[in-house]
Amino acid sequence: MLRSNESLFKNEDSLDPEWLPKNLPYREMQHHHIANMIKPLIQGRTGRNCLISGAPGIGKTAAVRLVLKELEESTNVDMPDVSVLYVNCWQKNTTYKIFVELCEQLGYRFTQNKNTEDLFKIIQNIVNKKAVVFAFDEVDKVDDVDFLYQIFTDVLKKTIVMITNHPEWYAQVDTRIRSRLLPETISFSPYSNEEVEGILKERIGFAFHDNTIEDEALKSIVDKTVQAADLRTGLYLLREAALAAEDSGSKRVLAEHAQKAVGKLTDMSIKPKEDLSVDARFILELIKQQSEGKIGDLFRLYQETGGDMNYKTFQRRVDKLAQGGYITAKKVIGGKDGTTTIVSELNKSLTEF
Ligand SMILES: Nc1ncnc2c1ncn2[C@@H]1O[C@H](COP(=O)(O)OP(=O)(O)OP(=O)(O)O)[C@@H](O)[C@H]1O
Ligand SMILES: [Mg+2]
Repeated sequence: MLRSNESLFKNEDSLDPEWLPKNLPYREMQHHHIANMIKPLIQGRTGRNCLISGAPGIGKTAAVRLVLKELEESTNVDMPDVSVLYVNCWQKNTTYKIFVELCEQLGYRFTQNKNTEDLFKIIQNIVNKKAVVFAFDEVDKVDDVDFLYQIFTDVLKKTIVMITNHPEWYAQVDTRIRSRLLPETISFSPYSNEEVEGILKERIGFAFHDNTIEDEALKSIVDKTVQAADLRTGLYLLREAALAAEDSGSKRVLAEHAQKAVGKLTDMSIKPKEDLSVDARFILELIKQQSEGKIGDLFRLYQETGGDMNYKTFQRRVDKLAQGGYITAKKVIGGKDGTTTIVSELNKSLTEF
């Protein structure tokens, strides 16, 4: 039996989806490809741009963050200074918000009372003294793409990395941008069953003491992760199963603990809520309160609780929450109220995860 002061975890943080491993097994090719886009910057030339695409939870963000981290850590006297800027466009979804964020990351804090143009001048002044990598994650969530145009035309030595689950988004971006950026596409394909198992086993090595997870428990966690096709599910299940084992005082994670964890999952799309913008999170909270309902009713509730977006913008936010797997939105055509969208929350245990 586990004593009350003992834990099964060696490093629980390593099960956090934000935790970045030193290597990403099975993504060596993509890692190399992303690094190649940046290489010209290190040689004092301008970089290349890329569009990274693939399904949720298969290592896109992790691969980019790893390349950026390595770049930041590789200081060499002969190397030009390269700034590394990463923006999640779920949170910063307009050119203005993106520029405020870039200013802050570049150490410029006096962004109040400055308009988009002023902010861009500040950014330009700082980054044009060196080279810069811009990474725009969840880039399809932006309301406008002016920032891409401005960066492309007015920053001298740069690499622009865009990450998305919806590569078709890029096809409808203004041609004035597409004809300039010409990004290389880097695709992330889903992991095979063996790869999922390999990744989870490696993570187990970081997270737990030896022999903590019984084979049968591991097998059901791997199976469920393969089914969900999202590594976050595996990380979530490992932690939940171990907590269930600890709760029952067991020194090992057994099949029954894995089953308990799996029982908490009904929908497979788990994304951290922290990635959302304040207004998207506000809408998500309302949807959770209402549990299920028509989009029109939800909008009224939104207005009554002080929301000030217009209906179109609101609708777009709801669509994006659905695309991101935070909620479900089903279009019902020709019901008694004509065509409407029914919005509902996902399983509670997931949205609270
Ligand atoms: N090859 C791998 N090796 C180790 N960990 C991995 C690997 N691939 C993914 N992971 C882990 O899985 C989790 C999800 O990966 P990541 O956040 O990169 O997904 P993503 O492809 O960006 O998904 P989304 O499109 O939903 O943002 C992270 O915790 C990441 O560290
Ligand atoms: Mg990601």
